[in-house]
Amino acid sequence: METMGDLRRTHYVGGLREADAGTEMTVAGSIARCRDKGGVIFADLRDTTGILQLIFDDATDRAVFEKAETLKSEYVVIARGRLREREAKTDKIPTGGVELFVTELRVLSGAKTTPFELRDEIKVGDELRLKYRYLDLRRPEAHEPLVLRHRIVKIARDYYDQNHFIEIETPILAKSTPEGARDYLVPSRVQPGKFYGLPQSPQLYKQLLMLSGFDRYMQIARCFRDEDLRADRQPEFTQIDLEMSFAEEDDIMAVNEGFIRRVFKEVLGAEVKTPFLRMPYSEAMDRFGSDKPDTRFGLELCDVSAAVKDSGFAVFQNALVGGGSVRCICVKGAADKLTRKEIDKLTEFVKTYGAKGLAYTRWTAEAKTSSFEKFLTEEETAALYAKADMQQGDVLLVCADADNETVYAALGALRVETAKKLGLIDESAFNFLWVTDFPLFEYSKEEERYVAKHHPFTMPKTEDLDKVETDPGACRARAYDMVLNGCELGGGSIRINDPELQRRMFRALGFTEERARLNFGFLMEAYEYGAPPHGGMAFGLDRLVMLMLKKNSIRDVIAFPKVQNASELMSGCPETVEEKQLRELSITSAIMPE
Ligand code: AMO
Ligand code: AMP
Repeated sequence: METMGDLRRTHYVGGLREADAGTEMTVAGSIARCRDKGGVIFADLRDTTGILQLIFDDATDRAVFEKAETLKSEYVVIARGRLREREAKTDKIPTGGVELFVTELRVLSGAKTTPFELRDEIKVGDELRLKYRYLDLRRPEAHEPLVLRHRIVKIARDYYDQNHFIEIETPILAKSTPEGARDYLVPSRVQPGKFYGLPQSPQLYKQLLMLSGFDRYMQIARCFRDEDLRADRQPEFTQIDLEMSFAEEDDIMAVNEGFIRRVFKEVLGAEVKTPFLRMPYSEAMDRFGSDKPDTRFGLELCDVSAAVKDSGFAVFQNALVGGGSVRCICVKGAADKLTRKEIDKLTEFVKTYGAKGLAYTRWTAEAKTSSFEKFLTEEETAALYAKADMQQGDVLLVCADADNETVYAALGALRVETAKKLGLIDESAFNFLWVTDFPLFEYSKEEERYVAKHHPFTMPKTEDLDKVETDPGACRARAYDMVLNGCELGGGSIRINDPELQRRMFRALGFTEERARLNFGFLMEAYEYGAPPHGGMAFGLDRLVMLMLKKNSIRDVIAFPKVQNASELMSGCPETVEEKQLRELSITSAIMPE
């Protein structure tokens, strides 16, 4: 192998164009592809910015040409030469109009044959790609998201800095507190039997920084949550985390809409219109069956409970008597596309959301088939169809359940699934909105108590303050989520800054005085020393990058992501550790799975 010697890179390749032809330059990178056509060798050189064709032909110095003959994929080289216009141009790559006629070549590293071809067009299983993630990341399609992610973070830092936010780091080894998701724990060596918790977010620290008078805080913050993975969920992820003093909802929303406008403009050249639509939680649920509605298409839910309230159909009756509802989606003009077979598939689909079934009417030009009409009177059917705007050509999909949450979950997911199936989604659109007025609490059947819907430091709506202990289910929060195309991009709230109200919150959550003091005593004491009104929010950075780049999974925008069982396949963690390490941590035994 050779060394670089006196050669140093003068140009990155990605931006080279016809206008640069004639320039002497030195480029460096890996060989993406090499074709030896007898007298002519074409070698694609890849660096972090793009790909450039190197050319060696009969005008090339013999020694250089012979060296070029030894090149193989992924060899690392540095090459000097003169850029020239290509004879056969291509628009497949941005540099397709030019090539480098090489006069000096040094091969800096050889390379084994890679376990899979490093080309975007090649489909490779995730397992293999992630095991060799460092190779996978050489592919432009895997590489570019991380470069863009860097730009997005840089814009965030600049934007919030210009708006007087200062970045402050908060601890990673922190206190494990109840509420929220499961914590990752870290045992203490010097204090046997004691544990740190990795932060699920910097929530308490950033609130305390407001008490410390920093006025506006931001952090690109790593967060850890031991929860099940999904396409938009990783056990460690990053937030753009913010907090503002002397601010209310409007102020916080305006500054963060400004960030979105800026980042979409600078990275994508897209104009985002602000202010965003604001929609109360109850409306989002009623119309879309979701607290993160995708507003790129219609298919809104319709409550037809009143039309069928006296019907003899047990499915509807039981739902209504049980305190639930009968709701539907009318899919306009879909009678020919949503065949019986498709409807059966959708029925199986809603069952995964807890629905017991899906009643339907399919009304084509030839016939009307319905799974429930026979159980209703003509008047009831007419009233139902009128309410749902069900006409010839349409398909009506109906869900009934004694638990409204189930109806919402099933139809909310069905709406998205149906829109995907029928191609109703404008993939180029970016539809933002704020969902506001969330419930303050939600009832946990598992814990048999109310838990905070956002977190226990969220300020109740002023008009609901007196109901915190007496009617928690009816309290709404000064909390808001920013939603983009059906994904929760960020969320936040105005915080409680009155220690007495905070104590009442903990009581409503079923904490004893003692337990509240043990877990959150430091916070409640802090608020005794004077606290500005404050609030904030956090964006999921991974989700923001994923949605901006139209990727399907946040794995695609994370350098070394984890897979379904929370392993990182390249290094192979989590892993067992030496007995000695456990002893040092005073951990005597680990309960091993069978
Ligand atoms: P919240 O829990 O809503 O709020 O989180 C804020 C945003 O972080 C993103 N997010 C995730 N992204 C990837 N993987 C995950 N497991 C994951 N969990 C959350 C989402 C979400 O909207 N401290 C509060 C914010 C505040 O009140 O200021 C908080 O963490 O995009
Ligand atoms: P059955 O009386 O069981 O034949 O049901 C009649 C129709 O009602 C079928 O199309 C079922 O799929 C549908 N169905 C059953 N349970 C529900 C439900 N909870 N909501 C809506 N439709 C249902």
